[in-house]
Amino acid sequence: MTHITVDPRSPFFDDADDRQERGAFRHSAMEFFPGLVSGNTLSFNTIVHDASTRPGYDVIRQRLTVGVPNGLSSEWFDPQQRTVEAIAEQPVIAGRYESLDYYLSQRNTTPLHGMGLVEMISLDRLNAIALSQTRSSGGIISGRVAGKYGWRGQVDTLSGFVAGACATELGLNVGDTIRQSADPADPRYVSLAPDITTNQVADLTSYVAGLPAPNMQMLSGDERKQVRRGKRVFHSIGCATCHIENVVPANGIYSDLLLHDMGPELQDPFPAPAYHLTSSSSANPVGAYSNRYGRGGGTVSGPGTERDRRGPRGDRGRSNSRSNEAVVATGTPIAIPMDYPEQPQFPRGKVKEVDVKVRYPLSWDALQREWKTPPLWGVADSAPYLHDGRAETLAEAILWHGGEANQSKRNYVRLSEGQKQLLETFLESLKAPVE
Ligand code: HEC
Repeated sequence: MTHITVDPRSPFFDDADDRQERGAFRHSAMEFFPGLVSGNTLSFNTIVHDASTRPGYDVIRQRLTVGVPNGLSSEWFDPQQRTVEAIAEQPVIAGRYESLDYYLSQRNTTPLHGMGLVEMISLDRLNAIALSQTRSSGGIISGRVAGKYGWRGQVDTLSGFVAGACATELGLNVGDTIRQSADPADPRYVSLAPDITTNQVADLTSYVAGLPAPNMQMLSGDERKQVRRGKRVFHSIGCATCHIENVVPANGIYSDLLLHDMGPELQDPFPAPAYHLTSSSSANPVGAYSNRYGRGGGTVSGPGTERDRRGPRGDRGRSNSRSNEAVVATGTPIAIPMDYPEQPQFPRGKVKEVDVKVRYPLSWDALQREWKTPPLWGVADSAPYLHDGRAETLAEAILWHGGEANQSKRNYVRLSEGQKQLLETFLESLKAPVE
């Protein structure tokens, strides 16, 4: 699945206030990629539907390839042609339309095993894991609690995840909770009635919640021994610090469901959500990065640069009507100011480590490196791996680890061939359930 993300630092946004008055702002965004505009809202990220056969969509996809400096074959939008190797070689493609910089990247579909168990994991538990993880690793590994769903933890309830998939991936009108993605070939189209009822979304959610969790395979005595030895290797090189075997009640999940800075090689344009959840509560981050304009003047808000740190009106310090909610450090991430590059490029420029750590831990740029630890249950059957599917094999997936997982990756590299084989045998035992 292809994502398009626009860079909030683009000069396109500089005089947005004036142009917004004239309606020109909306107009040029519509001309470029109409799917980014919905009513009065400009999103910073949306999906480019690879498989859409809608008349006119071809032209829209074609336009995205024109602004890419070295060109982009239109086959790139064809899931049959786009290989794991091609993604690994160039995970993010940068382009420019007039003064708007944009990036194209991929999202791999996440497996849905055991989602009902994931839903039951309490936020208190995740907070406790985050705390003990930070302590035991001396602060080198410090997961951040966000939502439990999506590669970036961008959704915090299973029903929100399911409804979001209906609205965004499928383009259905799901009522007024989540905005249906616009039809890029006809952005003015408004579907007047819900395409799917609240009850149907609830049924779909129950179905997904009922999908079984993977179980340990029935193995022969000898295999069991090998798997046990491989599991010891997994623990000894630090994989289990993040890929935690049991998070009650999700036994065998091999994840902490926390966000980690995974280093520059896994950086991807659209950032993780900028909030902490601190109690058994939820905040719906869907649309958190929407850029509202055209509402009685005012600044184009949205991801601010340093000169505009306010963020979308009403978003900062988001408080929810539910009383047990405690959301800290919420708001829109700030994009660290950078020069206008001669050619569009990703990342846009270098950010100093100290800026990320001390000054802007929840900046647009730092959040681009955060990923939620994916559960490893069923991992033997879910290739290709990683958020954009750039890794064909388990070994490749491990070698892409960086950032907080750097030490663990280095330990892996130093293993003997025999130990690597044992680790692989263990990971290969984590099979998807057979119904
Ligand atoms: C700091 C936390 C952390 C540590 C330590 C860590 N991982 Fe990961 N792992 C992650 C995150 C986060 C991802 C997802 C990264 C992405 O998609 O870009 C991931 C992805 C994976 C994947 C791909 C899963 C999928 O469904 O795509 C495998 C396999 C994996 N890790 C195995 C390991 C092994 C083996 C080790 C030990 C050598 C290890 N990990 C250490 C956090 C960690």
